[in-house]
Amino acid sequence: MARTRPKSRPKKATAGAGRRRRPPSPPRVVIVGFGRAGGSLAWGIRKAGWPLTLFPRSGESVRRAVQAGFQLAEHEDLRAADLCFLTVPDTAIGRVTADLKDDLGPKTVLLHCAGALDLSAFGTDPDTVRRTRASFHPLVAISDPQDELAGHAVALAASDRELLPTLWELALALRLRPIEVPEARRSTYHAGAVMSAGLLVALASAAAAAFEEAGIYEDAALGALLPLMRSAIRGVERRGLARGLTGPVARGDVSVVQSHLSGLPAEASDVYRVLSLRSLALVKDRLPAETRNALERLLKG
Ligand SMILES: NC(=O)c1ccc[n+]([C@@H]2O[C@H](COP(=O)([O-])OP(=O)(O)OC[C@H]3O[C@@H](n4cnc5c(N)ncnc54)[C@H](OP(=O)(O)O)[C@@H]3O)[C@@H](O)[C@H]2O)c1
Repeated sequence: MARTRPKSRPKKATAGAGRRRRPPSPPRVVIVGFGRAGGSLAWGIRKAGWPLTLFPRSGESVRRAVQAGFQLAEHEDLRAADLCFLTVPDTAIGRVTADLKDDLGPKTVLLHCAGALDLSAFGTDPDTVRRTRASFHPLVAISDPQDELAGHAVALAASDRELLPTLWELALALRLRPIEVPEARRSTYHAGAVMSAGLLVALASAAAAAFEEAGIYEDAALGALLPLMRSAIRGVERRGLARGLTGPVARGDVSVVQSHLSGLPAEASDVYRVLSLRSLALVKDRLPAETRNALERLLKG
């Protein structure tokens, strides 16, 4: 790591590291990495009043952390930490775990925030595997380190279920709603999360491309489309997926769908077809068989 790292201590994690008692409340937290996820966790944890130190990597991250008034982690902080979050890119989790393993206390729990990864992401070193490991994945699209976590969900997993009350406590302190995800299905779960966040942004870009084709350019397009998207989400919140769905497929209006397909630019029309078939699956029991079949033929054509 670029920042001066605490020197490794010769003593390794003990064999009993995985069997930990509940830490004194509130637990001491170290966050490694100060990017988007690390930043939003840091601001949330500080606001919640839990003892916190940061271990950023680059000089620039150190400067931002100090400027924001965070305390940097010294060797003793890593040693004494109850929870050590690795908020680094998914591909760096194994390497950072190996770099830190002799600096952490024997009972320090390692956590990652990667939605797609199970607990094997920390690697297979025997000392690491004996340590309690956990995942704390906020279901939040964090595009800036100061984005708020409060009001969202968080997926929890732990190698030792005795840790779960502590993770729940942290989630509630951050005003996050905890859910648990089966370890074996993490990729599938994460694909769902990505569809509702990053791919929603991609969908907005296809919608903006359609507006552009109609002569309405990006700023004006987003100014009109974002409130429209929020109104669709409100409909789902209030009435569920099938009853919250609006538009020509929900109304069984074949001619409007036909006119959309002929007016859309090619890349937007592919997205339109796939998602309209998905819409049809949501409402097909409400449509006459003839309309349903006509829509299906048109959209698959
Ligand atoms: N962003 C989201 O919406 C979101 C949501 C939920 C979960 N997550 C998860 O959060 C984790 C971090 O993602 P992010 O979006 O916060 O990424 P990010 O903004 O790119 O931040 C990554 C941070 O890790 C540091 N870093 C990079 N390589 C490192 C290494 N080898 N050793 C130590 N530090 C290293 C970087 O430090 P420097 O800047 O100092 O180089 C940077 O501060 C990932 O597991 C991701 O899946 C992200």
